[in-house]
Amino acid sequence: MAKKFFIKTYGCQMNVHDSEYMAALLKGMGYIPTTSKEEADIILLNTCTVRKKPEQKAYSFLGRLKYQKRHRPLIIGVGGCLAQQQGELLLKRMPHIDFVFGTHQIYRLPEIISKLNKKGKVCETNFSYQLEPPKGVIPTFNKFRAYITIMQGCNNFCTYCIVPYVRGREVSRRSESILEEAKRLLDMGVKEIILLGQNVNSYGKDRREEISFAELIRRVGNLPKLRRLRFLTSHPKDLTLDLIKTFKEVGTLCEQIHLPVQCGSNRILKKMNRRYSREDYLKKIEMLRKVCPEIAITTDIIVGFPGETEKDFKQTISLLQEVSFDDIFAFKYSDRPPAKAVGFKEKIGEEIKAERLAAVHEVQAPITKAKNREKVGQRLEVLLDDYSKRGEMGLSGRTRCNRVVNVRAEASLLGHLVEVEIDEALSHSLRGRIIKVLD
Ligand code: 5AD
Ligand code: SF4
Repeated sequence: MAKKFFIKTYGCQMNVHDSEYMAALLKGMGYIPTTSKEEADIILLNTCTVRKKPEQKAYSFLGRLKYQKRHRPLIIGVGGCLAQQQGELLLKRMPHIDFVFGTHQIYRLPEIISKLNKKGKVCETNFSYQLEPPKGVIPTFNKFRAYITIMQGCNNFCTYCIVPYVRGREVSRRSESILEEAKRLLDMGVKEIILLGQNVNSYGKDRREEISFAELIRRVGNLPKLRRLRFLTSHPKDLTLDLIKTFKEVGTLCEQIHLPVQCGSNRILKKMNRRYSREDYLKKIEMLRKVCPEIAITTDIIVGFPGETEKDFKQTISLLQEVSFDDIFAFKYSDRPPAKAVGFKEKIGEEIKAERLAAVHEVQAPITKAKNREKVGQRLEVLLDDYSKRGEMGLSGRTRCNRVVNVRAEASLLGHLVEVEIDEALSHSLRGRIIKVLD
């Protein structure tokens, strides 16, 4: 009987995509996927350390796995940022883990697993800067929407952030290789591509011969079979006018951007080493909206950064009111050693952080709701890329502005672009009726 694998993923879309590769590589070794960890022969954890919460969740999941291993032969591997950071320490702390593989070691998974038989425990956490995916491995959980990693790592060293330490310095892939991968995916029927990187809009800066990110958007965006293009995540300081203009020039580029601002106070932005001011950020928002009036803009907010006064915090609140984001992701600051802010004095108490987080949500919730309500009555293009999680509805998909829409539809429409009239706005999704099939 074929052996089964189960992968648990924490964190961002980069991690979700890395898990797609892990799954594809395991399938290549003859394993088949299972949704039940109780029947898996190998369990992989793809971990995240960007904030305390996902890290704690990974530790508690790992703790519980100890009991599973008592009853049956089971291989447990830990990858991702926690694996990169802790390395051998994880094997020492939790002897039921068989192997640990870092953020640059994913493509070597088959080799690492075969080493287990000879060596017992294995820990591989070198930064290899090997970015080219293995040929013939197709990493996609979804048949119609696919991710392509265009660069790894980050050089920005925001003082709160662990990413540069666990993902290494910025390295961009060659544009020809990105274009080849995109064409391969499109030939397989993919309609939407999402270009991924910790800091996508500094793409190419580490390679003199390479094209700019804006040019990459033009080249990928104009591939004949592509219907939709998105990218994630952008740093405000690297959002050039040239890039902003692609929202107008490139028809496939969806009207949506995630642009983390983190906070609204210039004093705190400086301490965070973000290298833009509140005014710079607002100017970029204005430019985006001028070039592309219908663009949906989302952001990340951190509350309770060390030294954040009530006055600083009020500026975050006023920024939310001023920009009127389509949606936000807000977090309480947590220390992430070895990030620099761990050493900053004037830490903010948990209670105040919780209060500020609640205040942020209170201000944003009606804005998000109103932005969703604006969609009611509109006819929007939706790529039906999955079965609906709402039982009574048939399929779900996303609008170009990245809203999730549920519709009643036959499974035969899966993978099609349709025009939907929006009937109802819920807090995190929309509902609608199909007006016509577009392809
Ligand atoms: N504490 C809280 N939030 C953090 N983020 C990154 N590091 C921290 C930290 N130490 C948030 C930022 C970033 C998102 C991915 O996670 O908002 O944009
Ligand atoms: Fe972290 Fe800043 Fe790099 Fe984003 S830009 S990954 S927040 S260091």
